[in-house]
Amino acid sequence: MLTIPHSLILYAEVIQKTKTQMASHSQHSVFPCFFFILLCHFLLNIARLVSAQKPVFACDVDSNPGLANYTFCDKSLDIKTRVDDLVKRLTLEEKIGCLGDASVGAGRLGIPKYEWWSEALHGVSYTGPGVHFNSLVPGATSFPQVILTAASFNESLFETIGKVVSTEARAMYNVGLAGLTYWSPNVNIFRDPRWGRGQETPGEDPTLTSKYGAAYVRGLQQRDDGDKDRLKVASCCKHYTAYDVDNWKGIQRYSFNALVTQQDMDDTFQPPFETCISEGNVASVMCSYNQVNGIPTCGDPKLLAGTIRGKWNLNGYIVTDCDSLEVMFDNQHYTKTPEETIALSLNSGLDLNCGSWLQKYTQSAIQQGLVQESVIDRALTNNFATLMRLGFFDGDPTKLPYGNLGPKDVCTPANQELAREAARQGIVMLKNTLVSKTFQGANSYGLPLSPSSIKSLAVIGPNANATHTMLGNYEGSPCKYVSPLQGLAVSVSTVYQAGCSDVSCGTAQVEEAKKIAAGADAVVLVMGSDQSIERESLDRNDITLPGQQATLITQVASVSKGPVILVIMSGGGWDIQFAKDDPNIHSILWVGFPGEAGGAAIADVIFGLHNPSGRLPMTWYPQAYVDKVPMTNMNMRPDPATGYPGRTYRFYTGPTIYKFGDGLSYSTYEHSLMEAPQTISIPLAEGHFCLSSNCLSVDTDEQSCSNSSFNVHLKVKNNGNMPGSHTVFLFSTPPSIHNAPQKHLLGFQKLHLIAQAEGLAKFSVDVCKHLSIVDELGKRKVAVGKHVLHVGDLKHSLTVRI
Ligand SMILES: *[C@@H]1O[C@H](CO)[C@@H](O)[C@H](O)[C@H]1NC(C)=O
Ligand SMILES: *[C@@H]1O[C@H](CO)[C@@H](O)[C@H](O)[C@H]1NC(C)=O
Ligand SMILES: *[C@@H]1O[C@H](CO)[C@@H](O)[C@H](O)[C@H]1NC(C)=O
Repeated sequence: MLTIPHSLILYAEVIQKTKTQMASHSQHSVFPCFFFILLCHFLLNIARLVSAQKPVFACDVDSNPGLANYTFCDKSLDIKTRVDDLVKRLTLEEKIGCLGDASVGAGRLGIPKYEWWSEALHGVSYTGPGVHFNSLVPGATSFPQVILTAASFNESLFETIGKVVSTEARAMYNVGLAGLTYWSPNVNIFRDPRWGRGQETPGEDPTLTSKYGAAYVRGLQQRDDGDKDRLKVASCCKHYTAYDVDNWKGIQRYSFNALVTQQDMDDTFQPPFETCISEGNVASVMCSYNQVNGIPTCGDPKLLAGTIRGKWNLNGYIVTDCDSLEVMFDNQHYTKTPEETIALSLNSGLDLNCGSWLQKYTQSAIQQGLVQESVIDRALTNNFATLMRLGFFDGDPTKLPYGNLGPKDVCTPANQELAREAARQGIVMLKNTLVSKTFQGANSYGLPLSPSSIKSLAVIGPNANATHTMLGNYEGSPCKYVSPLQGLAVSVSTVYQAGCSDVSCGTAQVEEAKKIAAGADAVVLVMGSDQSIERESLDRNDITLPGQQATLITQVASVSKGPVILVIMSGGGWDIQFAKDDPNIHSILWVGFPGEAGGAAIADVIFGLHNPSGRLPMTWYPQAYVDKVPMTNMNMRPDPATGYPGRTYRFYTGPTIYKFGDGLSYSTYEHSLMEAPQTISIPLAEGHFCLSSNCLSVDTDEQSCSNSSFNVHLKVKNNGNMPGSHTVFLFSTPPSIHNAPQKHLLGFQKLHLIAQAEGLAKFSVDVCKHLSIVDELGKRKVAVGKHVLHVGDLKHSLTVRI
């Protein structure tokens, strides 16, 4: 999405107005002009506040009783009947006016303008023009950026956050400050560590990404009354598909052609989108800017009508990324005229345009015979049906379910506590070693720090007092901030030095920082990045810490007399081998962009009020990896012929800094296998060709495949003396046919165990769904032979027979 911070848009509006006023009032003195601007500003704010009390909706029968006669306003009828009635009543001009995100509606039918573009990636966000914050609702709960929430590996948390976000979104809608349609989540695969938008995603693994996407979508969309036809808010899985290059060494997402094999497409890039639909019942999918194998995704009938609509059966609408249609024409020169562009998209299955090209060019495209009116009707039917499921055509929303929500339901103490809890659950402890110098006379680990033993804590680093940085991108105005420094200062006395003027850390103030470190009982360094290093439209070139950060860290650590804790705040991973190896650095935490309460959550982990349980949702590669691998090579699988090493834990076998799934705890956990079969047989129909020949695999679409499943049960014991949560991963290594992944995640389960307690992790494995792999042609198959299950830290062999 092309994004401009909301405050900037407003600012630009004011500047624009000021310029006009200046020009027309230039003969007057400055004072009245200034006064006039102030007055304008004041009136504008009043106007916003007044208009902000009322939500946007159609079929307002209270003010216009005649509308009650329209079938489409009749709440007692089914959605299809109502939408058909509505579309039939619209003139062609009205229809076309409703094809852009700024839908003009149809005033004569009581259908108001509607802004489709709202965002809620990790809280209601000001990124889209559908959301406004003002004195009525100055902020919304800002949860951790998605990559950190994903690190919690807690599916119920994903859903709970979605639920809170949709409650706040509905509350803001009711007072006219937000829409009902949210273009979140981002379920693209974090394929390359340099990607600036990796922070928005749940990481590199298709299983985790699929589960996150479905759970977050359910949280946003599902209503408490269980009515599946209706939506609380509508969400959108984006960016479809194989989109994960923004701007790398001048290669822009607007013209990038992702060359993707059928196999990678079907076992890496597509599954999260499919799951969004099949398990999340998502109301929308957004096509991306890039091309896939030479075809722009928003103009590919196979991807849109064929796969999303046909094969996956989307119940909802397909929308472009913002200005994707212009991009197809201007940047990609894929089409010869704007009309040809929009016709291609509509005919491919597109329903809505973020941008104005459909509104501008559909009329002429119809005149040129490039698109039929029936195609427009199909698009509008999908769009309006979504709004109808949201209650948009049911009259005054304050009289409908969720109608009692309002500003009092935004930023509640419980919601803010969940933001803190989510950050705590996600934080990953990557290193925790004994403090070799005699600290407080005892053998002790770097973490947790005991506040009573610390008279003075040095808090150092460009992110040590971070506020806005903690939110990451696609943020909203938060309820409030607790910076790391503020969080730590609640329990101990602190001394603070930024150490660098910003995260790029051109010159570090090493001596000043060393001085406060040497005088303190312990040191917390909060380093990493912000949106100036990794963001939308900006991929990284290097994955070493920016500027002189490493020098600052090493120097500070060398003079500290007590524990040294390195906290990395970032979206992506880093080559921090130097810190991993440095005995003066006792502990390392990765805290993502931890959201508004990030500092409080960091302090909870550092002081042992919370036992860390986050696990990395992506591989941390060495710098040598990015030196060697072009970001634009989409292949997941290694290629021995060229030395290409492949990507992610599923295919890459080279050196790493930290691995997918890494993460330590203050407890140790013991695993023992309670139940798992040694062999599994897939029954085959009589006369099946595999019975007479030697088969390597069975197609999963065979009927016999569908009902084979088995249990894997694992006993887990918390051997520590703190309560803690522990994620059990179930991976499988399939027989090596068809370039199968060396290992892939079948599922994960998080258990909460008090000290010394035992629990059971139970997995139900569907042979065809979970053990299968995708062949070179995109066909799902279960390999016959030995599959190795990795459960917790155990391995178990399982033979699949036919
Ligand atoms: C609704 O339709 C009925 C029957 O056609 C008509 O008598 C009535 O006046 C209409 N009501 C309004 C408010 O237009
Ligand atoms: C930390 O940041 C907060 C919020 O921006 C600011 O009020 C405070 O003065 C900062 N603290 C220090 C020690 O600079
Ligand atoms: C998962 O998150 C939920 C919601 O915050 C929490 O109640 C639960 O304890 C978490 N599960 C584990 C195992 O930590």
